[in-house]
Amino acid sequence: MTLSSFDRDRADPFTAAMRATSVAMVMTDPRLPDNPIVFANDAFLGLTGYSSAEVIGHNCRFLHGPRTDPVAVAKIRDAIDAKMNISIDLGNYRKDGSSFHNGLHISPVFNEAGELRLFFASQLDLTDRYRLLGEWEQANRTLSDALETTATLVHEIDHRVKNNLQMVSAMILLQSLDQPDPELRRGLTDTLARVEALSTVHRRFHQSPDVSQFDVADYVRDLLGDLVGATGRTDIRLDLDLASAIVPASKSAAIALLFNEVFTNALKHAFPAGSGGTLRVSMVSADDHLAAIVEDDGVGMPQAQRPTTSFGQSLIKTLARQLRAEVAVKRVEPSGTRIEIRLPRERKVMA
Ligand SMILES: Nc1ncnc2c1ncn2[C@@H]1O[C@H](COP(=O)(O)OP(=O)(O)O)[C@@H](O)[C@H]1O
Ligand SMILES: [Mg+2]
Repeated sequence: MTLSSFDRDRADPFTAAMRATSVAMVMTDPRLPDNPIVFANDAFLGLTGYSSAEVIGHNCRFLHGPRTDPVAVAKIRDAIDAKMNISIDLGNYRKDGSSFHNGLHISPVFNEAGELRLFFASQLDLTDRYRLLGEWEQANRTLSDALETTATLVHEIDHRVKNNLQMVSAMILLQSLDQPDPELRRGLTDTLARVEALSTVHRRFHQSPDVSQFDVADYVRDLLGDLVGATGRTDIRLDLDLASAIVPASKSAAIALLFNEVFTNALKHAFPAGSGGTLRVSMVSADDHLAAIVEDDGVGMPQAQRPTTSFGQSLIKTLARQLRAEVAVKRVEPSGTRIEIRLPRERKVMA
C-alpha cells in the first residue's frame, strides 16, 4: 500500500474508519528511505498541529524534543528494527513547541507473503491523565506530610505530659517524705505509684510510631519492670506470657491504672518481707475481648475480707465499670491469689 493507494481507496471501510476515528494514527513505510509517514489521519494532525503536507514523507522523529526520553526512543527503534509491537509512553512535541504525553503503540503490518509492508502507529494524548496523576501524588504527599506533622505533635504532647507527670510524682514524693502520719504517707505513696503508671503510658506513646493505639502487653512489661525494680526485691520472680493486645488509645489510661492497682497489690501484700514468690501474668487477645490473669503464689487474701471500702478496691471497681470489664478475684491453692480480668473490645469507653 502506498500513499496514492490510500487516496484511491477512500471508499475502503477500514481506511474510512482510520480517517474518521478520534484516535491519532499514522502509517509509515519501512521500504522507503528513513521509514517516512505515508498516511496520517485528522486526529493526528489535530493532536500535533501539523498539516498533512508537513508530515507525509517525514520520519516521526519531528515529534521529539528536549523532554523526549532517549531510552524510550531507543526502545522504539529496537522494536522497529525487530519488527515487533511496542506500547510506550513518551514526551512528544507539537508544531507550536508545546509538549504532550504520548501513549504510543506501534505494530508492524505484514503482507500475505510475510513481508513487512507498513508500521501502524496510534497516539493517545495522556497529558490529562499524567496531570491528574501528578495532582493525586501531590495531594497524597500533602496528606502524609500533614499526618506526619500531627503524629510529631502528639508525640511532643506525650513527651510534655510525661515530664509534667514526673514533676507531679516528684512533688508527691517530697510531700510523703515530710509526712509523719504513716497512714497519710501510705496514701501519698499509692498516689505516687498511680501517677507514675500514667507517666509510663505517655512514655510508651512517646516511643510508639502509632499514637492511636496502645499495646497493653508492651505496657504491662514496662510497668512490671518498673514496679518490681522499685521494690528492690530480688526474691520476687516475674513469669510473663503476654500476647500483643492492641486497644484504642482512649482506653489506655483506665487500663493502665487498673493493672497498676492489681500489680501493686500483689507486690505489696502477697509477699511479706522474707517470703518471695512468683508473680505470673498472662494475656490473651481475642477478637471480642482481651483476657488477663494476674496470679501470685503469695500469702493469699486475708480470710476475713475487709469491707470493700478501701480506695484501691473502689478504684478498681470504678475503672472496671468505665471499661465495662469483669474483674474476678480467686484464691489459689495451696496459697496465692488470682485476678482474672476480661476486657470487651468493641464497646466504647465512657468519656
Ligand atoms: N495479691 C494479694 N495478695 C494478698 N492480699 C491482697 C492481694 N491483693 C489485695 N490484697 C488484700 O486486699 C486488701 C485491699 O486491697 P486494696 O483495696 O488495694 O488496698 P490497699 O492496697 O491500699 O491495702 C489489701 O490490704 C490486702 O490485704
Ligand atoms: Mg492496693
